[in-house]
Amino acid sequence: MNIQEIIAKKRDKQELTKEEIEYFVQEYVQENVTDYQAAALIMAIYLNGMTKEETTNLTLSMANSGEVLDLSSIGKTVVDKHSTGGVGDKITIILMPIIASLGIPVAKMSGRGLGFTGGTIDKLESIPGYNTQMEMSKFIENVKKIGISIIGQTANLAPADKKLYALRDSISCVDNQALIASSVMSKKIAAGAEKIVLDVTVGSGAFMQTKEEAIEISKMMKNIGNLANRETVCVLTNMNEPVGKAVGNTLEIKEAIECLKGNIPEDIKQIILELGSQIIKLAGEGDNLEENKNKILENIKNKKAYRKFLELVENQNGDISYIENPEKFQKAKHIIPVYAEKTGYIEKLDARKIGVISVHLGAGRIKKEDGIEHSVGILLEKKIGGKVQKGEILAYIHANDEEKGKTAIEDIKTAYKIVENQVKEEKYILGII
Ligand code: URA
Repeated sequence: MNIQEIIAKKRDKQELTKEEIEYFVQEYVQENVTDYQAAALIMAIYLNGMTKEETTNLTLSMANSGEVLDLSSIGKTVVDKHSTGGVGDKITIILMPIIASLGIPVAKMSGRGLGFTGGTIDKLESIPGYNTQMEMSKFIENVKKIGISIIGQTANLAPADKKLYALRDSISCVDNQALIASSVMSKKIAAGAEKIVLDVTVGSGAFMQTKEEAIEISKMMKNIGNLANRETVCVLTNMNEPVGKAVGNTLEIKEAIECLKGNIPEDIKQIILELGSQIIKLAGEGDNLEENKNKILENIKNKKAYRKFLELVENQNGDISYIENPEKFQKAKHIIPVYAEKTGYIEKLDARKIGVISVHLGAGRIKKEDGIEHSVGILLEKKIGGKVQKGEILAYIHANDEEKGKTAIEDIKTAYKIVENQVKEEKYILGII
C-alpha cells in the first residue's frame, strides 16, 4: 500500500478500504505522509465525499491515533458535551458548572478558536492564572476532588484530528460533513466519556448553513457514536446571530459570570436548558426533561452553579477575585459605540461577519500560531427581532488599536439589517436528533 495509490483512488471517486484509511492516518501522524500528500487526499475527500463506512473508519482511526482516556475510575457516568462551533458561544463555561453542581461529574476537554469561531480554552485563559494544560492523572484527580475540570485537549488526544483540522483550515476544507463528523466524534471517543451531547449549530455563524445539513450530520455522528458504544444526542441550535450579547474572550467570561448569577439572555437560557436537560438524562439522573430543566434553574437561583464555577477556577489556579469582581478584568483601550442609521426592527445580525470582525480586532487567530488579545471584541446591544431608533446604539466595539476599532464601525453596520416591519424573534432550538 502507498499514499499515491490512496490519493489516486479518492481522486477517481472510488471508496477507500478500512486498511487504506488506517494506513493514511497512522503514516500521517508519524510524518511519513507529507502535508502536501495529506492536503491532496483531503481535497479529494472534500470534492468527492465519503460513504458512511469510510467516515466511520476515518473517525475510529483518528480516535485511536493517540491515547484513549479511561474515565472509569471517576465511578459515575460521564457525559461529554461538544459544539460544532460558533460565535459568542460560551455555553460550556455556563452549563458545565451547573451540571457539576447537580452532582454529575464533568471531565471536559475543549478547544481553541480557529477561523471566525471562538474557543472555550481561549476564553478561560482570559481569567488570570487559570491553568488549561495538565497531566491526565491530575485532570481525573480534579474531577474526583471537586466534580469538574475543564482543560485544553492534550497533545496526544486524537493527534491525527489535530493535524488534519489545522491542515483543513489552511486549505479551505473545514466545511465538509464527513470531515466535521469524523473530527468531532474522534475527539469525543478518545476523551473517554460514555455518553455525548452535541450542540450542532446551524446558520450564518456555523459550518452547517441549513437545518437539513445539520440533521444529516447529526444522524452521521449519532450513528458513529452508536458503533463506538457511545450514546449520542444532538441538539440543533440557531447560529444565525451570535449567542448572547458578548463576542470576545474576556467579554464572554464576564457574560458567563452574569448568567451564572441568574442574568441570562433568552437564547443562552434556552440552549443551556435544552442541552443540560439532555445531559442530566443521559447521566441517569432524571428521565423527565422538564424536571431536569427546573433542576438547572434551581441551581442557578440558589447560586450553587456560580459557587461551582468559583471552585473550578480556584482549583485550576485561576484568580477568583476577578470572578467575584469582574470590573478587575483588563478592559480594551477604546470602547466605541456603533449607532443605528435608521429606525426599524433588526431582521439580520450576521454571526459570521461579527466573528470575522472580532478576529480582526484581535480576539481570534487567523493562523494557528497567532496570539490573541483577551480584552477585545464586540458587545451587541441589539439582536434579531429587536426594535431600534435611529441614533440608538447597536453595539460597542472593544478595541486596543484605534484604527482597527474605527474600521470595525462600518463592518458592524453591514452585519445588521434593519427593516421597517416588525420581525419574528429567532427560534433558538431547532430540533433534537
Ligand atoms: N469542530 C470540530 O471539532 N471539528 C470540525 O471539523 C469542526 C468543528
